[in-house]
Amino acid sequence: MTQSYQITLLPGDGIGPEIMAVAVDILKVVGQQQNLTFDFTEALIGGAAIDAVENPLPQQTLDTCRQSDAVLLAAIGGYKWDALPRHLRPETGLLGLRAGLELFANLRPAQILPQLIDASSLKSEVVEGVDIMVVRELTGGVYFGEPKGVFSTETGEKRGVNTMAYTVAEIDRIGRVAFETAQKRGGKLCSVDKANVLEVSQLWRDRITALSSEYPDVELSHLYVDNAAMQLVRCPKQFDTIVTSNLFGDILSDIAAMLTGSIGMLPSASLGADGPGVFEPVHGSAPDIAGQDKANPLAQVLSVAMMLRYGLDQPTAAEKIESAVLTLLANGYRTGDIQSPGTTVLGCQAIGETLIQILNQG
Ligand code: IPM
Ligand code: MG
Repeated sequence: MTQSYQITLLPGDGIGPEIMAVAVDILKVVGQQQNLTFDFTEALIGGAAIDAVENPLPQQTLDTCRQSDAVLLAAIGGYKWDALPRHLRPETGLLGLRAGLELFANLRPAQILPQLIDASSLKSEVVEGVDIMVVRELTGGVYFGEPKGVFSTETGEKRGVNTMAYTVAEIDRIGRVAFETAQKRGGKLCSVDKANVLEVSQLWRDRITALSSEYPDVELSHLYVDNAAMQLVRCPKQFDTIVTSNLFGDILSDIAAMLTGSIGMLPSASLGADGPGVFEPVHGSAPDIAGQDKANPLAQVLSVAMMLRYGLDQPTAAEKIESAVLTLLANGYRTGDIQSPGTTVLGCQAIGETLIQILNQG
């Protein structure tokens, strides 16, 4: 029987449309092979939406996303919109999408592929075998806490304020996702906080510790965020699954991504309790290379695989895509960002065509 899915596509800005085009082609090919059909609706977000309707997240986009089975997002932002007031910034659209769909759990895998080990800026013996999943809380913490704003003090001086806040319910729900993720992986969970200084972090640590009694098969540890950042570059192999708050996760997931040498390779999944998830590359919109057919579409393609696995419960289709990407790399094909001596550099479109050939052979 054919399974049919509604997918919202948010190509966004910069290299977004180019990498999205490749990813959609791959999805269609795998869909044909696996008896899955997809009904695509494209919607505006970020700078593209600001230009068209002066709103980085039009209501229509949010409605379309809510009605779909999954959302595939490429990238948002660019120099052009950097000076606009905050409510008109592309980033505000992305944060609104996360909040609007209640995507509290952000899964960011960082896995070293043997074919790309030389792309890492760390020694190969340090990064060899690294396979980390960062579970980042995505709809709370200092990104969303109130009060926030720039206020005038009694003396008329300006004072900027953000608030790092978590309720027990918010900590528990991300904690459960993290324990369950660790159960399906290496069985180790490291919770990262700043409990030596911040009250909100002490509550975080207390709750994660309390939850651990429900997951006796997961080995729990705790690290302060400064130490975690250091350990990630010192000895990344000690980590399996990491759970942390929104801001710490933003920072640590960039470090974890860079261990792999190419942020252009890494996908992510943002999930809520129910409703559609959003699947997107970890990298940004790379406006400097937009429109030149130089972008690496593999993070977007691997985001399609994450969508199939975590959003649509189609693990076989996900594996087909992941194994095609590995074959492509093993055959020596690269984009410019991950090239090394002896490899063949292809453009964004040609990478897509080669992947389709591999999928059709396999
Ligand atoms: C990310 C990005 C976003 C964030 C920005 C673009 C708002 O850095 O997804 O990691 O800070 O969450
Ligand atoms: Mg970030």
